Amino acid sequence: MTSPSSAPGDRARAVIAGIGSCLPPLAVTNTQVIARGNLDTTDAWITGRTGIHRRRLAGPAISTGDLATAAARAAIDSAGSAVPRPDLLLLATTTPDRPCPATAPEVAHRLGLGTVPAFDLAAVCSGFLYGLVTASALLRSGTCRAPLVVAAEKYSTIVDPFDRDTAPLFGDAAAAVALRLGDADEPGAVLETDWGSDGGGSDLITVAAGGSRLPTTGIDTGIDTGTPGHGDRCFRMRGRQVYAHAVRRMTSSSEAVLATTGWRPEELRAFIGHQANQRILDAVADRLGVPPRHRLGNIRDVGNTAGASVPLALADAAARHACAPGARTLLTAFGGGLTWASATLLWPDAPVRTAAPEPRPPLHDHQEVSPP
Ligand code: UT7
Repeated sequence: MTSPSSAPGDRARAVIAGIGSCLPPLAVTNTQVIARGNLDTTDAWITGRTGIHRRRLAGPAISTGDLATAAARAAIDSAGSAVPRPDLLLLATTTPDRPCPATAPEVAHRLGLGTVPAFDLAAVCSGFLYGLVTASALLRSGTCRAPLVVAAEKYSTIVDPFDRDTAPLFGDAAAAVALRLGDADEPGAVLETDWGSDGGGSDLITVAAGGSRLPTTGIDTGIDTGTPGHGDRCFRMRGRQVYAHAVRRMTSSSEAVLATTGWRPEELRAFIGHQANQRILDAVADRLGVPPRHRLGNIRDVGNTAGASVPLALADAAARHACAPGARTLLTAFGGGLTWASATLLWPDAPVRTAAPEPRPPLHDHQEVSPP
């Protein structure tokens, strides 16, 4: 697809014009997670140490792409006809439908977006904000006019139900925003961003097998990589170390983006951090000096939904009209990689749409629909 030739002016910003979300219907309590994995823990430990009471799980019939398609369609719906038809789709996910190809092109196809550019972005729990930084830059450079940023995760496919360190933490979900070009002073405007990574911490959050180092394909490459065991195929996290990094990086990234924007923390009316752990969120907000009444989140009901967590919390709060359009807002996230990112924005004025997961049509329909 060709790109518009002229770049917009300096005050032009990406504006969140549509917000959509999708949660699978199955709600699972802590007690049910404990019973399923026969875990040596308690409901009181999980709620006290993380703030999580329940989460949604997709089950075998619903894929990441099914969640993503529903959330993206909801975001397009929310944006309405005033916003141009999406001309780029970016899908942040750590749990794509398949290792190859990327899930984004199929989501774009299912949405009827034709031949728009579409790609997956892997930044683990920072995925949505990495996507927002990327899409904003592409929009402001004139490369696209109406990008969709979708974040979708089905962590239930990688989390070990028998691992008490991680099984109680994660849930499945998707959320999406539709962007258009607008002015820096209008509701939804993404003002400044900050992002970074530290690969020195790449072993702290991993799925060891399934990549080029420890393949699971069974193809004989002539290189003995060993046979991956059950644990290698599952998500593993060194929780205590990650906790410390998460607090440090989300705080410093938030401080950086607030400084660039010229805002003081006490001027914020909405703070949404990656919903990893209520104690982490409180530690970051305390360090920044954001009062409790301006801390927004939904970790209690959905757990940690990885890349989807920030836009899902935004969608949830916007659906409750938790903030007035235009209110000063800070988003921040931290995840595997290690990666982190933050953004300042003016609270959007978009009617949030929620949707049920969309089951994938049978394969033969796809083959008939796509012309050569
Ligand atoms: O999404 C990407 C970013 N993710 C995060 O930022 C998550 C970061 N980490 C955390 O949220 C927390 O570290 C956890 C929730 C994973 C753990 O909470 P914690 O308060 O940091 O506990 P801890 O890791 O310091 O462990 C304290 C004890 C340990 O036992 P010992 O070594 O003191 O004997 C753990 O083995 O608690 C034990 N433990 C548990 N006990 C009961 C760990 N998980 C559990 C559990 N139930 N589920």
